[in-house]
Amino acid sequence: MTDNKQIALALTGASGAVYSQRLLDVLFQQGMTVHLMISAAARIVFSDELGWKLPARASDVHKMLVAEYNCQPEQLQVYGEQQWSSPLASGSHQVPTMIVCPCTMGTLSSIAHGSSENLINRAADVMLKENRKLILVPREAPFSAIHLENMLKLARLGVCIFPPNPGFYFKPETLSDLVDFVVARLLDQAGIAHTLMPRWGE
Ligand SMILES: Cc1cc2nc3c(=O)[nH]c(=O)nc-3n(C[C@H](O)[C@H](O)[C@H](O)COP(=O)(O)O)c2cc1C
Repeated sequence: MTDNKQIALALTGASGAVYSQRLLDVLFQQGMTVHLMISAAARIVFSDELGWKLPARASDVHKMLVAEYNCQPEQLQVYGEQQWSSPLASGSHQVPTMIVCPCTMGTLSSIAHGSSENLINRAADVMLKENRKLILVPREAPFSAIHLENMLKLARLGVCIFPPNPGFYFKPETLSDLVDFVVARLLDQAGIAHTLMPRWGE
């Protein structure tokens, strides 16, 4: 049995920190509990793109993000990169969905090859073996044949490959509009209710 109010989120060192920034915002607003993992490279990119100085210690990240989002402390669990004691390291947990946003080509490759060398890779491996929902938000341009082969392999295993490509048919006026387009579609994939933007035809 899984618990639909819980979600795993991994931040890796690809460009696109703003998507996860907004995603966390909506997840907390929706009363979700977020199980958060952060790669070392993500700390660099999030610092560059958002000015977030994410501490190395999980407990310090917890403190920082609870203050940033004003969420309930129990809505956020943060795990270290090698924290094998995390529930996410085992298929016995009840988290139905994991999103990697943004997802580097390196993490995507590790997941495609089942390396399980850090908690992010292991947690994704667990989602695969347990047939749960895994959503990757890969960011690179252009894609090499290696990237495309890895994505095809994962897509054939049921992974949702979700490039952060906003549509322009809804006439975005701000960067936030573009971000919300991507986050809204991402939440749809994860089966999480939201009112970020009207749906086509409504
Ligand atoms: C500012 C910055 C931006 C980066 N952007 C990307 C990117 O968009 N896509 C990507 O695959 N790697 C990107 N990288 C490289 C990854 O961070 C690097 O390959 C790292 O080893 C990935 O580790 P991780 O998957 O554990 O986060 C970027 C690195 C930096 C410092």
